[in-house]
Amino acid sequence: MERWIKVTHQNEIPKGQTRAFTIENEPIAISHVEDGFFAYENKCSHMDFPLDDGILEGCEIECAHHGAKFDVKTGEALCMPAVSAIRVYPLKIEGDEIYVEIP
Ligand code: FES
Repeated sequence: MERWIKVTHQNEIPKGQTRAFTIENEPIAISHVEDGFFAYENKCSHMDFPLDDGILEGCEIECAHHGAKFDVKTGEALCMPAVSAIRVYPLKIEGDEIYVEIP
């Protein structure tokens, strides 16, 4: 059963930035891009390093460790050395609060 978990407030993640959270034991990153907020697995599919310390450019986050890039909206792996997508999570805004749905 899916559950919506209140994670943070919108003003805690300025546009162009990413924050890391642990939600129900899941490492999750939330990035604030031009189109809004997006939640995804905070674990690079290359060697499992966290992604939140990477570089966010547009909708792409570049892993700080070996340079793989992912689309924060879809989780798609955009370049080597990553070949597998990362998981993305549904996110909703209520008032000023950000909720993420955890399976
Ligand atoms: S751990 Fe991310 S590119 Fe290697």
